[in-house]
Amino acid sequence: MSRVLITSALPYINGIKHLGNLVGSQLPADLYARYQRGRGNEVMFICATDEHGTPAELAAAKTGENVADYCARMHDVQAKLAAGFGLSFDHFGRSSSHRNEKLTQHFAAKLFDAGLIEEVSEKQVFSIADGRFLPDRYIEGTCPNCGYDKARGDQCENCTKQLDPTDLIDPRSAISGSTDLEVRETKHLFLKQSAMRAKLDDWISQKADWPVLTTSIAKKWLHDGDGLQDRGITRDLDWGIPVKRGDTDWPGMEGKVFYVWFDAPIEYIAATAEWADETKGGEAAWERWWRTDKGADDVRYVQFMGKDNVPFHTLSFPATIMGSGEPWKLVDYIKSFNYLNYDGGQFSTSQGRGVFMDQALEILPSDYWRWWLLRHAPESSDSEFTWEAFQSSVNKDLADVLGNFVSRVTKFCRSKFGEAVPSGGTLGAAETALIADLTTRIRAYEAHMDAIDVRKAATELRAIWAVGNEYLQEAAPWTVVKEDPERAGAIIRLMLNLIRVYAVLSAPFIPEAAARMLAGMNTLDTDWPEDVEAALSGLPEGHAFTVPEVLFAKISDDERAGWQETFAGTRA
Ligand code: 2FM
Ligand code: ZN
Repeated sequence: MSRVLITSALPYINGIKHLGNLVGSQLPADLYARYQRGRGNEVMFICATDEHGTPAELAAAKTGENVADYCARMHDVQAKLAAGFGLSFDHFGRSSSHRNEKLTQHFAAKLFDAGLIEEVSEKQVFSIADGRFLPDRYIEGTCPNCGYDKARGDQCENCTKQLDPTDLIDPRSAISGSTDLEVRETKHLFLKQSAMRAKLDDWISQKADWPVLTTSIAKKWLHDGDGLQDRGITRDLDWGIPVKRGDTDWPGMEGKVFYVWFDAPIEYIAATAEWADETKGGEAAWERWWRTDKGADDVRYVQFMGKDNVPFHTLSFPATIMGSGEPWKLVDYIKSFNYLNYDGGQFSTSQGRGVFMDQALEILPSDYWRWWLLRHAPESSDSEFTWEAFQSSVNKDLADVLGNFVSRVTKFCRSKFGEAVPSGGTLGAAETALIADLTTRIRAYEAHMDAIDVRKAATELRAIWAVGNEYLQEAAPWTVVKEDPERAGAIIRLMLNLIRVYAVLSAPFIPEAAARMLAGMNTLDTDWPEDVEAALSGLPEGHAFTVPEVLFAKISDDERAGWQETFAGTRA
């Protein structure tokens, strides 16, 4: 049994995420976590809300709430939606937790001791109209790299370049829109990432198996030079983790907080500690996942994220980990994603464009969405959500192929043999061929899942479902039963067993439907079909089952057109 640590990029607290956000990190991370558990491995799957920084402050200002209250409320909302989508986190933490505060201050102290933190008098943009400094998202303007006119002070969404507010062309306040800005001096801490360039370069060069999307972004920032500029890790904000060196005050840093991108990835570790606190496992319980001196050496750590997050996870966070000089676990594999677009344009949180997690669950069960999103995951390029494609995939893959198979097999059995696995009869060459075909395909499916090739895995899974349908069509038990009921019973016995196997294989993609299939087959046996032939005789003769309710309802043209219209505009 191996141990797999899985983290999904932490969703910002500011509002409900859209389906593009979901498929960019949390959903594929869940797919992988469920698969690894299915294979019998020990999994720690961690996510949390990213609660600090300007996104939280700006969002709370909009609703008129105090930031802490806003974050507590939105954490709850996001946790419920995550559960609604079946995201099986072992812990869904909060970056504003006490654990994260302590750990972030601990890392700062270690980095300071290692000589990797510098105090710098810095020029920051000050807004006369707003009477305050404008860090990060408080300022917007034109990206000096690509010309995008809605670039934010910390990063350009369009070209992923990390920015400083003073880099922006034609800057304006995101609070008031004022352009009456001036540059003032203020003191901040800088992480000397540049001192770690060679080490990081070395480390990334060893990752030949990483997706090109991940390494190309990392290499770009390493070799273009400016990705490894020393980065300011503190801000003039009220909301955030107070700047301290461990438990000690930091002279000159009073009233300042750490930059959100400094503390957010540390929350991956802190959230695991929060989990240990909740489950009363003590320090050892989380340290065995994160400290290589306490057992984490044999952990495989996989991170999931959208491409805009890659620079922070390939450079800044590893710089924090390596720079601490302590034996923390470094990531082993980074799976990154391109963007999902929405019906001819972009999903946009700020403009409310697209389908958001709450809206999606109001109209259809989560499995419909999970299946479409994962089957169209933006892996090698951006992909696009259209209602036509969604309707077609749900109707064909889920209803026609999988749903129909389950319904035909179980209903036929009920009508001819009753609701119990038929006994007797023998299998022949057709069944041997079927088992061989399934074995080849299941091994291919495992290989794609192991490699986290999400689309290929989905395509293979659909092919596995189709194989059952084709065999059933050929074997035609409804004809055979007239001449040789025992043989028809043997065919159906095999097919009922195949439903259990389908449930186990499909659970990472469509966990609710898989659970209903297992409930229908009246079994708790979720063993992975390592030996396909043996797995297909797991349900004994005479074993009672029930015909499951319709697994997937088809989406009608009227429904599709209605949703298309409802979601054509932007939401308030
Ligand atoms: O881009 C985002 O949505 C960030 N909140 C991701 C943070 S990931 C991590 F490092 F915490
Ligand atoms: Zn840009």
